[in-house]
Amino acid sequence: MAFPKSFLWGGAISANQCEGGWKEGGKGLTIQDFVKGGTASKPRMFTPVINENEYYPSHNAIDFYNKYVEDIALLGEMGFKCFRMSISWARIFPNGDDLEPNKEGLLFYENIFLECKKYNIEPIVTLSHFDIPWEVVKKYNGFLSRETIDIFVKYSKTVMKYYKGKVKYWLTFNEINFGVLEMGAYKSLGLINKEDLNSKEDIAKGDLKVSMQEQIQALHHQFLASAATVIAAHEIDPENKVGCMIGHITQYPLTCNPKDVLECQHKDRILNKFSGDVVVRGEYPSYIFRWMEENNINIEFKEGDIELLKAGVVDFYSFSYYMSNCVSVQEGVEKVSGNLMGGVKNPYLKASEWGWQIDPEGLRYTLNDLWDRYRIPLMIVENGLGAPDKVENGKIHDTYRIDYMRDHVKAMGEAIADGVDLIGYTSWAPIDLVSASTGEMYKRYGFIYVDRHDDGTGDYKRIRKDSFYWYKKVIETNGEDLD
Ligand code: BG6
Repeated sequence: MAFPKSFLWGGAISANQCEGGWKEGGKGLTIQDFVKGGTASKPRMFTPVINENEYYPSHNAIDFYNKYVEDIALLGEMGFKCFRMSISWARIFPNGDDLEPNKEGLLFYENIFLECKKYNIEPIVTLSHFDIPWEVVKKYNGFLSRETIDIFVKYSKTVMKYYKGKVKYWLTFNEINFGVLEMGAYKSLGLINKEDLNSKEDIAKGDLKVSMQEQIQALHHQFLASAATVIAAHEIDPENKVGCMIGHITQYPLTCNPKDVLECQHKDRILNKFSGDVVVRGEYPSYIFRWMEENNINIEFKEGDIELLKAGVVDFYSFSYYMSNCVSVQEGVEKVSGNLMGGVKNPYLKASEWGWQIDPEGLRYTLNDLWDRYRIPLMIVENGLGAPDKVENGKIHDTYRIDYMRDHVKAMGEAIADGVDLIGYTSWAPIDLVSASTGEMYKRYGFIYVDRHDDGTGDYKRIRKDSFYWYKKVIETNGEDLD
């Protein structure tokens, strides 16, 4: 199995799950600052007012804000070729739409890029990873307003100009396709608090009930913001390469009953392919118009929208892959949970403690499917196993994580042998961080352990896990030695 010489091995994190420093350096509040922790069985909760005496995981997270020098040195020690991280929009424009950027925020990320350079690590920067500035939510109702397109593009142009020569790879919106899921309304699109839709009790419970019409309109605006960002990136520096970020949840029909097969195709299209088709092909796919009509969704396209989408297509297709799900039209089939959405249980697969079905072969299938459809370079920008770790005599023997990753790296090798143009892989996450769906520290992903716990205790000490040494070897041998 031969990985290309230039293959980008690395890892991925996001600002809100790592940085902490929620009020440091002139940062404004983001939607994440209002979300309390949860567990696998108790979802995270949005709180309309922040009670500083309670535990909000993202407020301190793993203190990457103060520890990035040490952390990037550890990534360097593993031999990382690239590092995917995100810029928090509210560190650069605390209110989202300020006239001038916050110098301290700009310097913070500049220092991160300088640290990366020391170890020849190529930064891959996500411009928006589930942390829209709170003021944008309040003032514009997130991406429901077209004005948010302009303020986002101003933010992206500002950072792309400022970091010109330091950053070449950019991703626009994390898991942009999750905008079609109920949970994506808040997380992804910043939609909240429509008086006619949400009672005070619902808001307090975190039950936001934004309409699908609003969600898809907001998603349309996000597509436009993404396209304008791609165009700006190429104008600012022809060396820039911009990718999308699709949260790919691979779907299989539970049986060969043609009804299951059609339902599966439908689900795959709405969830995965719709957003991918818009950002890669630059146009709304035909099947989505029927779905919108049947769901009373009527998107307002303004003059120039069609041309903008066509002109701002991404350079590469990047995506997260953790698991797959089955689809069936039958009643009463066994269900499982998953990344932001569940599905039907696959009898051939095991699942993680959080119910995510582990499917390395599904990664090979997905890579081939995406390559056949889009014919542009692919990058896996998230993949990993969330599992609890035990520290024993100062060591963490996370063989389960190594097994998960070995099987997925093998599947990547098979896909490359199938002819897929796969240019990189960033594991989620090289270092333990706050879980996005549950807010837990108990669910760990890292090669590096962080002493931080769900009751807010821990001294943030970093410890290399067994997987740290394993991944170092994988990178050193360019994917040859996976033992
Ligand atoms: C992806 C997100 O959906 O999955 C990450 O982009 C997230 O932010 C990752 O952390 C894993 O999900 P979780 O809920 O286990 O943290």
